[in-house]
Amino acid sequence: MSEISHKPYYLTTPIYYPSCKLTLGNSYTTVVSDVLARYHRLLGEDVFFLTGMDEHGQKIQRTAEAAGMEPQAYLDIQAEEIRALWKLLNISYDGFIRTTDEHHVQAVQTIFERLYEQGDIYESDYEGWYCTPCEAYWTESQASEGVCPDCNRALEWTKERSYFFRLSKYGPKILEYFKSHPDFLQPTSRMNELITNFLEPGLEDIAVTRSSFDWGVPVPIDPGHVVYVWIDALSNYISALGYPEAETDPAGNFKKFWPCDVHLVGKDISRFHALYWPAILMALGLELPKQIFAHGWLLMEGGVKMSKSKGNVVYAQDLCERYGVDCVRYYLMREIPFGMDGRFSDRSFLERLNADLANDLGNLLSRSTAMLSKYFSGRLPEAREPEAIDEDWKTVLSVSMADYRRAMEGLHFNQALAALWRFISRSNKYIDETMPWILAKDESKRNRLASVLANLFESLRQSAIALLPFMPDSATKILSAIGISLDSEAEIAAFAKLGTYENFETSVKIEAAQPLFPRIDIDAELASLEDENMSSEAAVSVSCKTTSTAEEATEPPVSKAEIAFEDFEKLHLCIGRVRACEKVKDADRLLKSTLELSSGREVTVVSGIAEHYSPEEMLGKQVLYLENLKPRKIRGVLSQGMLLCAEDGDGRLVLLRPESDVDNGSEVG
Ligand code: MSP
Repeated sequence: MSEISHKPYYLTTPIYYPSCKLTLGNSYTTVVSDVLARYHRLLGEDVFFLTGMDEHGQKIQRTAEAAGMEPQAYLDIQAEEIRALWKLLNISYDGFIRTTDEHHVQAVQTIFERLYEQGDIYESDYEGWYCTPCEAYWTESQASEGVCPDCNRALEWTKERSYFFRLSKYGPKILEYFKSHPDFLQPTSRMNELITNFLEPGLEDIAVTRSSFDWGVPVPIDPGHVVYVWIDALSNYISALGYPEAETDPAGNFKKFWPCDVHLVGKDISRFHALYWPAILMALGLELPKQIFAHGWLLMEGGVKMSKSKGNVVYAQDLCERYGVDCVRYYLMREIPFGMDGRFSDRSFLERLNADLANDLGNLLSRSTAMLSKYFSGRLPEAREPEAIDEDWKTVLSVSMADYRRAMEGLHFNQALAALWRFISRSNKYIDETMPWILAKDESKRNRLASVLANLFESLRQSAIALLPFMPDSATKILSAIGISLDSEAEIAAFAKLGTYENFETSVKIEAAQPLFPRIDIDAELASLEDENMSSEAAVSVSCKTTSTAEEATEPPVSKAEIAFEDFEKLHLCIGRVRACEKVKDADRLLKSTLELSSGREVTVVSGIAEHYSPEEMLGKQVLYLENLKPRKIRGVLSQGMLLCAEDGDGRLVLLRPESDVDNGSEVG
């Protein structure tokens, strides 16, 4: 067995704002961190993986108020939801910090006092254009449109007495540090951006308190103020280790784990981590983290951000429930080159699952275990008869696994998976080349057949071990199908030998494995996703959505950009009468209605309301109809326009209708 290093390894995710339900984009950061944490545990290191919640600020306060709750009560519900999400995604965190934790609050106050006493924090006036949802001030030029450049919502002119952190004093030191530590912020392009845009022009001091709201850590020397976002949020990385008391405790986590090995963050917050955080740490006389890695964004089709107002948000829960957690983890890690932006689409997701998981990995598993089971009753045969072709397969094993390791070290996760898949594909090709089913027909080839199947067993074993950080459940299932169960020490030992061919013991019992990743009929699946979107589009087609459950109540209302009257006039709304109605074939949620408009003119509309109205109930009803929506084909039926509905508190869609009968085709407006 290899020597276990027990070297401490500390990694963090950003702490998440719980003011909205976390999206697949937020989950991405955490899944990446989990893969890295599991990888370092497999190297035998003593890992501390921290995640948590950023719980202060005006936005949280307002969201809680809108939900009719005290902020703390609201946050406690959110904390449970976020923990449940991480459980679903199999996130193996060691620490979960909340910035409302008593210890964290005290740590922030101590840090504030220390910086104030040494002159790094001072009092002055602050005014500017403020965006409450983003909790950010914008300069005159940035705010020229009167809306937030980030979220497009209205800005408020705000003036307040504030405390400032002397960020400017640390600019030159940080620049020097960047130059002497070129790997400090990765990818390097992000470091260059910060140098050009911020460090070279000179950093400005930043306001670190607010007095316009009170949901925050009270400033110890001035109770009318609360500490504002970054000193509070960034300090979580050391308060979670017991700072400040643990600063000098030789047995404490702070001594053991600080400086952090890597802070994983999205590129949008790299500036705060690579400029503000080092300055705060320098002011406290603490070492800087060894590395900050700023990953790219998970974008939607067309390269747009996911956002509630665009209605294109994807949630990890939905994907996990439908396809399984490991499929989601695999896709995120394989599709997005770490450090760059990646795009999510249902099609690319399904294609990846079919090609890589159902076909490549799934076939290797089912073919190999079925043959081992059939030809050797599930026992690994002892006798062997190697042939030259085995050597090529073995070379691919060692080269691919060496590439995998190198990629993992550089945090190039998608390349690590690509390397592993080179080996998986080679193993599938090996089956085609060696044709075990032909060998099985010839008793004189029995030893050769044994060799081939032993190599396939080794393909599965090696692949599963390399998959442990990425798809822990599936990797364990593959190992168990080939009769292997490893405790964490055995996993470490096996991981250390990854890429080295092993003549495995013969006592294992192999089962013909059930398919782990069923093949998906992509077109049918896309059509059914479209149907479901249709019903959710219908649900929000009118903004009279009520909030009833605690979960819904915590969601801020969907705010859409203001429109001019001329924009409203572009909508052609009228009243139509349902003259015929039937279910759409093979679509549980869809109804096809024929509407009569003026002078007997008829149109066809497909609506996602079949769970709420039967075709019979629809007949004869007058309904509110949006006529000039671009027609589109849904399940082969051309839908012209949309029936408008509201959603009641129980999620039931209710058709909007005139109060009394009017002529068919009557204009609405
Ligand atoms: N609370 C701050 C972080 C403080 S850390 C001391 C914050 N929270 S957040 O909830 O808004 O975002 C958390 C992380 O999610 C960020 O790293 C952000 O980049 C990431 N993502 C949010 N949407 C994302 C995508 N669509 N794609 C990838 N990551 C994105 O910022």
